[in-house]
Amino acid sequence: MKLLVYSAKEFEIESLNKANKEKYKLTFVTEALDTTTAVLAAGFEAVSIFSGDDASLVVLEILKDLGVKFITLRSAGYNNVSIKSAKRIGLRVANAPDYSPHAIAEHAICLLLALNRNLIQANEQVKQYNFLLDGLVGHNLNGKTVGIVGTGKIGSILVQLFHAFGCKVIANDLVNNHYLESQYDLQYMDLESLCKQADIISINVPLTYETHHLFNKSLFNVMKPGALLVNTARGAVVKTRDLIKALNSKALSGYATDVYETEKGIFFRDNSKRGIKDEQLKELISFPNVLLTPHQAFVTKEALEKIAETTIYNIDCWYERKGCRNELGYETFVS
Ligand code: NAI
Repeated sequence: MKLLVYSAKEFEIESLNKANKEKYKLTFVTEALDTTTAVLAAGFEAVSIFSGDDASLVVLEILKDLGVKFITLRSAGYNNVSIKSAKRIGLRVANAPDYSPHAIAEHAICLLLALNRNLIQANEQVKQYNFLLDGLVGHNLNGKTVGIVGTGKIGSILVQLFHAFGCKVIANDLVNNHYLESQYDLQYMDLESLCKQADIISINVPLTYETHHLFNKSLFNVMKPGALLVNTARGAVVKTRDLIKALNSKALSGYATDVYETEKGIFFRDNSKRGIKDEQLKELISFPNVLLTPHQAFVTKEALEKIAETTIYNIDCWYERKGCRNELGYETFVS
């Protein structure tokens, strides 16, 4: 089987080649999948894509016409794929659901600590030989109330990590995790109550119809004064326009994020010379109390190895005509 790897980044090629063990013919292209680049898949039975690739119906139809049968995602989230359409036109899709929830949870903690303790500013000051402490006052995490929105694979680890910091952890999810309730005194509640009580909120839900713009002005308005919001899930779970207003009005005291609502076409490339046109993003990153990383939470050696292994596992399943535990078959939100 021939596999075309879209959006291939230099740092993941080695692990993909290693996991492949020369079983399949892998071709790497840096281009993201979209209506114009879909044609590159001519002659390939399978393609591998990432979260910034466009696999909406029109793209899927081009792939299907070109003879592609399988799509394997090198990501856990699959909001960029029209799963229902893929199923209808006979394309099989699988993701990499649990490559390393620890990588993402640890990055969420990293973002929070860096923002809360002003680490970026401190480091910049020290490099200018300024060793003053003014402007570097943060808060203890110990004793704070942390709200985890989505206690799946990543959220569950965050419950444990925040519990270890001595925080009171509360949560919102469609289903209660009884293990977390009994082991970590986790208390589930509706989202509005969570927002009223939490000093820190971490978003860990997938992007779906229901979670699109879940965090908007109505939630920002009820948040505890001084609350910090952390988002390592998907940018569009937060309505950026309302977020900016909440930051301006100080309803929210900080936003630490690895994702952005309209990151497609901006993230995963170096725009330092040509600049960016997204005025909303420019405004967002101009806030001193906003910390944004470029969707890097998954970039650990361990996670990359697991993503590569899962990618080859998915292809093995299809090639050997056996069941694939990562195959997707239900509808999600397509941005
Ligand atoms: P998961 O599927 O294990 O957990 C998601 C949880 O959210 C589930 O418990 C589910 O019941 C809950 N949920 C779904 N809809 C909800 C709603 N409307 N209200 C409340 N709870 C809801 O997923 P996992 O592995 O924990 O990942 C979460 C998300 O993190 C992914 O969907 C992906 O978008 C994002 N992610 C981001 C990465 C990054 O590099 N920044 C890397 C990996 C994942």
